[in-house]
Amino acid sequence: MIHLSLIGIGTGNPEHVTLAAVRALNQAELLLLPRKGEAKSDLIDLRRLLCRDLLEASSRTRVVEFDLPCRDARADYLGAVDDWHDAIAEVWVDLMATHLPEGGRVGMLIWGDPSLYDSSLRIAERLGGERFREGGLQVELKVEIVPGITSLQALTAAHRIPLNALAEPVLITTGRRLRERGWPSDAESVAVMLDSGGAFQALPQEGLTIWWGAYLGMDKQCLIDGPLVDVAATILERRAALRERHGWIMDVYLLRRV
Ligand SMILES: C[S@@+](CC[C@H](N)C(=O)[O-])C[C@H]1O[C@@H](n2cnc3c(N)ncnc32)[C@H](O)[C@@H]1O
Repeated sequence: MIHLSLIGIGTGNPEHVTLAAVRALNQAELLLLPRKGEAKSDLIDLRRLLCRDLLEASSRTRVVEFDLPCRDARADYLGAVDDWHDAIAEVWVDLMATHLPEGGRVGMLIWGDPSLYDSSLRIAERLGGERFREGGLQVELKVEIVPGITSLQALTAAHRIPLNALAEPVLITTGRRLRERGWPSDAESVAVMLDSGGAFQALPQEGLTIWWGAYLGMDKQCLIDGPLVDVAATILERRAALRERHGWIMDVYLLRRV
């Protein structure tokens, strides 16, 4: 039996890690840290730092790093993601079999919160599925979720704004979807994640306010806000310059009809 803890760690500020996360880190016998390639080395660095600072001397937690398989860049996006999740699940199973052959407690440090645009839960579900049963790799699994502070919370806190307008809903979507489908017809507020850059350009610019944030919670945090028509070009320029300087970027924004 494997007890898998998906531990939300916030999005870059070590002070956002909860007491429940610290408890879960220390209870794990094995922590698996994904390496996502050189450009995003800051992300593994933060995970390493949390392990170094938060694991108590008495804890018997072993920390093991692994290379995350790469997603195929083919046009069939959902098919490529499906195959990618299978590949990650296989790596997880191998690591668990190697480091915890008798079963035990495994923890994964999940960026932000595991419920928001994160596939760890979907990958974990595969471990008990048909494909692994056939390969003799099936894992009996109990999953625990430790909630973390999301990038959206880091964004609204940094800008000191509420997420929703008074009594109004908020729609959370991706840059890809915003480009493909435009402004969701009945939404007042739209939060956009996973944007490869400037999906808001696909929208009519008038009548929208944007609150944009990159590297939220980190020393290099950058914030811009204002009427979209006034600040869109500045955001695009700043985003390109920051990406050039740091080698990677993560940004998120809230758009509101105001
Ligand atoms: C794969 S999703 C993970 C979201 C995460 N689970 C959460 O709770 O925020 C990655 C996206 O989250 C947003 N994001 C995560 N961390 C961020 C940060 N520190 N600053 C700005 N955006 C961030 C970006 O939109 C990025 O493309």
